[in-house]
Amino acid sequence: MVNFSNDSVTTIAADLLAIPVDATLSSDALTAISEASNVDLAAAARDERFKGDAGATLLFRSLPGVAARRVVLVGTGTGELKRAGVAVARVARGVRAANVAINGAQRSAGDVGELVHGFGLGAYKFDRHLSPDEDTFAGFESLCVCGAPDAAAAVKDAMAVCDGVLLARDLSNESPNLLYPETLVRAAVEVASQYGFEHQVFNEDALVEKGFNLIVAVGKGSEHPPRLAHLIYRGAGEIKRRIALVGKGVTFDTGGYSIKPGASMLNMHCDMAGAAAVIGAAKAIGELQPAGVEVHFIVPSAENAIANNAYKPQDIFRGYGGQTVEIHNTDAEGRLLLADALAYAGEQNVDTIIDLATLTGACVVALGELTAGLFTNDDALAGSLLGAAKRASEDLWRMPLTAKLDPLLDTPNADMKNVGSRWGGAITAGLFLKRWVKLEAWAHMDIAGPAFAEKEGDFSSEGGTGYAVATLVEFVRTAT
Ligand code: BES
Ligand code: MN
Ligand code: ZN
Repeated sequence: MVNFSNDSVTTIAADLLAIPVDATLSSDALTAISEASNVDLAAAARDERFKGDAGATLLFRSLPGVAARRVVLVGTGTGELKRAGVAVARVARGVRAANVAINGAQRSAGDVGELVHGFGLGAYKFDRHLSPDEDTFAGFESLCVCGAPDAAAAVKDAMAVCDGVLLARDLSNESPNLLYPETLVRAAVEVASQYGFEHQVFNEDALVEKGFNLIVAVGKGSEHPPRLAHLIYRGAGEIKRRIALVGKGVTFDTGGYSIKPGASMLNMHCDMAGAAAVIGAAKAIGELQPAGVEVHFIVPSAENAIANNAYKPQDIFRGYGGQTVEIHNTDAEGRLLLADALAYAGEQNVDTIIDLATLTGACVVALGELTAGLFTNDDALAGSLLGAAKRASEDLWRMPLTAKLDPLLDTPNADMKNVGSRWGGAITAGLFLKRWVKLEAWAHMDIAGPAFAEKEGDFSSEGGTGYAVATLVEFVRTAT
């Protein structure tokens, strides 16, 4: 869908031509268009108080002497090319521009990659269930990068990550009558088949037989039985790092018998965003083929529903790792799926385990809707994940695993219960997970806030955001 052109910015045919600029408004393309059209674009921009802020746009139509039907100036702020790319896509959608060109001259290949990546993110809309009417935009046909013939590799790279993010969004946004454990796991297997990953899926019988009793417990009340998918990517060359990525795949969270109030249940189809991030990362890694690293993608999935046979408060189950759990709240289901999956990940001879989950409302209270919580006792791992998140423009903040709170999980009836007290809920959830991991190099990312957006954000439309895909890919690519 992306092509490259060496046509000049005045002769390139497009429905919309975007010229990225910063506060200085200095750009050869801007000068060329101003000269050809006899319209001083820089003066017009100053007139309109356009200051090149990241994502700001200024639209011109039918400039004489310019082949493109419209020209848009887009602000890059302080080198925020990805945001500029998002803004171009939003303007293009607004004016129904199917064929878009972006000026990439005088830019590094990496910057052009960011522009295209942003365009891909901004062009996304979950519209597969909308009935078309006469106002419906038929969609983008092409994106042309002008004046950057050497950016092809960087663009291909950026598109690989972007496609992983968009897959995660599609999965997160899909309605829960269509996306349930079986179909979620099918999406993972499709990625595995496409890129030749070794993979296996455990169905409910296999989960029972192998002792994944916590996953089975959470899924018992649903007409859609639980699953666990395990994909393995093996990079070329000597393997130096072995990483497991584990994602919570609750395809709908009613809360179970500890039922959620109606308003809190809305958007709980997105409670599989951790799994979506893992599957999206798998796709990007399959596309990018990083060398020297082995990655295990582990997706435990269940629907937390109510039925006569659903699990109940005070049920006790023995998890895959051998410990027993007394259920105190059926709405603390994600940690149960993860407990089994983390214990399983620990058997895979990996040196690092990272789990991702829309785990607690408490984490959203603590950090707000845009920032995920990072829980780990491994400072080096914290450093690399925070660095990867920063480079991926995703907000991540380290939180403590306060060891003194661990006894809150004790109960006289079993090895542990599945909730702590009212306070520090994101921490006690992390401490619960920690009890199932033997490896020091383990990190937990609570993505309950940023996985879903109530309204359009810097990089995403409303709905599932695909949060963490870019961070995970960046982490894996820089791991060796
Ligand atoms: N899926 C929810 C967490 C959640 C809340 C995600 C809001 C996104 C937005 C999780 O399964 C849950 O219900 N957690 C409970 C834990 C409690 C019962 C200890 C919560 O946060 O209230
Ligand atoms: Mn829940
Ligand atoms: Zn949940």
